[in-house]
Amino acid sequence: MSDLERLLSVAVILCIYALLCRWSFRSAFSAPANNNSEATLLVAYASQSGTAAGYAKTTFDKLTEPARLLPMNELTDDILVSTKRVLFVVSTYGEGEAPDNGQSFIHRYLHQSSFDFSHIEFSILSLGDSSYPNFCWFGKFLESELCRLHARVLFDSISLDASKPNDSAISQWYNCLAEHELIKASAIPAAQDSERSTQGRWQTWILDDREWLNPESPGEPLYRLVFTSQNTSIHWHAGEIAEVHPFNDTQQKIREYSVSTIPQPNTNQIPSTIQLELIVRVHSHQQYTGLCSSWLCYNLAIGESVKFKLRPNPQFRTPPTELPLILIGSGSGYAGLRSHLKARESDMTGDNWLIFGERSPQADNIFADELDSWMQNGNLTHLHRAFSRCSENPSYVQDVLRQQKAQLLQWVANGAVIMVCGSRLGMAKAVDDALNEFFGSHMLKLIEQGRYRRDIY
Ligand SMILES: Cc1cc2nc3c(=O)[nH]c(=O)nc-3n(C[C@H](O)[C@H](O)[C@H](O)COP(=O)(O)OP(=O)(O)OC[C@H]3O[C@@H](n4cnc5c(N)ncnc54)[C@H](O)[C@@H]3O)c2cc1C
Ligand SMILES: Cc1cc2nc3c(=O)[nH]c(=O)nc-3n(C[C@H](O)[C@H](O)[C@H](O)COP(=O)(O)O)c2cc1C
Repeated sequence: MSDLERLLSVAVILCIYALLCRWSFRSAFSAPANNNSEATLLVAYASQSGTAAGYAKTTFDKLTEPARLLPMNELTDDILVSTKRVLFVVSTYGEGEAPDNGQSFIHRYLHQSSFDFSHIEFSILSLGDSSYPNFCWFGKFLESELCRLHARVLFDSISLDASKPNDSAISQWYNCLAEHELIKASAIPAAQDSERSTQGRWQTWILDDREWLNPESPGEPLYRLVFTSQNTSIHWHAGEIAEVHPFNDTQQKIREYSVSTIPQPNTNQIPSTIQLELIVRVHSHQQYTGLCSSWLCYNLAIGESVKFKLRPNPQFRTPPTELPLILIGSGSGYAGLRSHLKARESDMTGDNWLIFGERSPQADNIFADELDSWMQNGNLTHLHRAFSRCSENPSYVQDVLRQQKAQLLQWVANGAVIMVCGSRLGMAKAVDDALNEFFGSHMLKLIEQGRYRRDIY
């Protein structure tokens, strides 16, 4: 089959797939059980790594009237026509961009829209980080565009610096919701409790083991960190994020790490424990060493405790096993990919293909034994490792994508989901460019169908 024929078959399959799987695949990832499809009140979110999705869910849970909770990409003409009020909860990503699960909404309703929003009242909780030059850019853009399309403001948008512990903006959001009788006054969290208005609780873990994965590497040190807890009821899904304050100091801005394992109680120990692993790169720039990464990798002693909050990341959940999975990443990005391979190992029914980049084949051949054993037991169908500092055939993951284009198109034609984890500028941008080159305008469909998912930073 030629590339053109493969691309055509991808296009046809995308359309059929969209019709067949519209409900089942999405609902596996997103919709909560109490979503009310008749409701005229909507909570719509755009979230790259789960924070805005978490605030949207907490808001939704507090509402006094029936509502729907949906990622923005899932909004359709039918839904919007029957909606009277929308509470948007959105973050900003990249260099002032919308998260992936808001991209197709922008394309369909803002860039080329003749849709009339005049029957809709809206407000926006806009998440960002004030250390970025485009603070809360997407929320501001969304507000101005909706006003241009004649939507009416229910109350002024609220910008939340999600990196700051206890930013008062979240209390302001709930106060405004209460003033408009969307939530009860008793549901407003006290200012000092604003942490509780996010999902998840802080849990104590003990550092049990630390392994330096790349002692000879030309790159920055990379560590595997193993934590244990005696609270074996702690649960999380593959793809979730561990939030941590450097030095457990709650006044410090949080850092985020992709959890690289799934819950597996160790019943050989008495009392039994549960383990959680991270893969952390020590960040440094000139004479400065990153605060949290150096604390976790150098200063924290074995046996010392760390407080983590596990943040659900609904956009980065493991796809159903019947769908083939293409995992792409580099460096510490193996963390987020590894958790999915562990989740799929228990079923052993899906086809999994890992394309993973590092620097030196000698010094950075990390997790080689684990990957070999997954190739042997069939949990990995294909494994491509790309090494950029290799004397023979140096390559990056995007080079592998181009070399394997025919196979990649075939997998996507067979319904594959593509998941990318790791550095945004160093790797994910180049991967995105290669995929756009292959799929062109079909990329938006892949994003909309939840078949291109990214945990990038
Ligand atoms: C969703 C998500 C998932 C993530 N998952 C992972 C993961 O699995 N593994 C992982 O390793 N990381 C991950 N990260 C990145 C991680 O959260 C931290 O950003 C990273 O560890 C750096 O934090 P730090 O405290 O060590 O560095 P910081 O102290 O925040 O410093 C950041 C950088 O700035 C430099 N710097 C600091 N102060 C100065 C100064 N005064 N002048 C000049 N330069 C300075 C530092 O050297 C460092 O390079 C993830 C991020 C996100 C958003
Ligand atoms: C790679 C990256 C880029 C970001 N870019 C911006 C930005 O341009 N403007 C901003 O206000 N916040 C920016 N942020 C901060 C996020 O908006 C903030 O962390 C938010 O809580 C993420 O929410 P989410 O998990 O729902 O995506 C960025 C964060 C990351 C990791």
